[in-house]
Amino acid sequence: MESSMKPLGSDHVHYLKTFKVFLEHSTEHMCMEKFIDENLPDILVSIGNKGSSSLNVLGVGSGSGQIDLKILGRIQSKHPGLPIHNEVVEPNPEQISSYKELVKEKGQDLNVSFTWNQMRSEEYEKQNKERNESKKFDFIHMIQILYYVESVRDTIKYFHSILDTNGKLLILSVSDGSGWYPFWKRFASRFPSSSLFLEVHKTLDEMGMTYQIYELPSDIDITDCFIEGSEHGELLLDFLTEVKHFRKTAPADLKDEVFQYLGQPQNSREENGRIIFNNNLHAIVIDN
Ligand SMILES: C[S@@+](CC[C@H](N)C(=O)[O-])C[C@H]1O[C@@H](n2cnc3c(N)ncnc32)[C@H](O)[C@@H]1O
Repeated sequence: MESSMKPLGSDHVHYLKTFKVFLEHSTEHMCMEKFIDENLPDILVSIGNKGSSSLNVLGVGSGSGQIDLKILGRIQSKHPGLPIHNEVVEPNPEQISSYKELVKEKGQDLNVSFTWNQMRSEEYEKQNKERNESKKFDFIHMIQILYYVESVRDTIKYFHSILDTNGKLLILSVSDGSGWYPFWKRFASRFPSSSLFLEVHKTLDEMGMTYQIYELPSDIDITDCFIEGSEHGELLLDFLTEVKHFRKTAPADLKDEVFQYLGQPQNSREENGRIIFNNNLHAIVIDN
C-alpha cells in the first residue's frame, strides 16, 4: 500500500505548531542562550572594519527572532555606540510578524534598524545576484535551518562569500553526537522529507574551510510521544520525524519501529520517570 505520509514542511502552519511544542519540551533555546552569553562575546570582539560607523548583521531562517534579538543584544554590548543594521531572511510570514512584535516589545534598548526579506535563502541569493548587490556583512548566522535548504554546500558557500573583512558566519545545527543523527540515519529512507542528518563540519572539511566547533548539550523530553491521544506528543512526533500527522498516517510497521527505537535505553535515557532524547547541538564559527 502506498504511504499517505506528507512532509511536515508542506504545511507551514502545522510546522510552526510542532516547532513551538518542540521548544516547550526541549532545552534548545536555553542551550543557545548559554552559548550566546558565555562563548559568543569573545567571538564577536573582532568583527567589524576599523573605522566603520556601523555593523551589518544577517539572520538566515530567523524564525520569530528570540535568538536573533539575544545575538543583537550581545553584538551591541560588545560594540557599544555602533549602530547595527540587521537583515532578516525568513520565508514564513507568521514568523516575521512574531519577530516584528518581539522587536516592538523587547527591542527598545537596541540601536538596530531592520530590513525584512520574507523569502527563502535561495531566493535571497538569487535576488542579490540579479541586482548585482555587493553588500557585505560583519556577522551572519544560520540557526537550525540548513536541513531545509536545497544545497547545504552552496548555501554555506554563498553566505560565506558575502562576509566583510573580519566577518564571521555562525551555524547552529544538531550535533552528530545527538540522538537525531542515528535516528535519521536509521529511518530517513522511510520518511518523506529529505535527510535531517547533516554533518556540517564534514561538508566544511570537504570545502577546505577552517572553523571552530562547540558542542552545546541539550535534551528533549519525549515522554508525551508515547501517550496515545496526547496532542503535544503527536506534534512532537511530527517534529521528530518531519512527517505531518505521523501517528495517523505512518504505516503500522514503521510506527512500531519508531516507538520501539525511541524507547530503547541506548537511544533515549530515563530521568525521573521521563524519557529524554539527546538534542545536542553544534555551534560552528567560520571566519571570513
Ligand atoms: C527550526 S526553525 C529555526 C528558527 C530560529 N532560527 C530558531 O532557532 O528559533 C527553521 C526556520 O527556517 C525557516 N526556513 C525554512 N527553509 C528556509 C530557507 N530555505 N531559507 C531560509 N529560512 C528557511 C523556517 O521558516 C523556520 O522559521
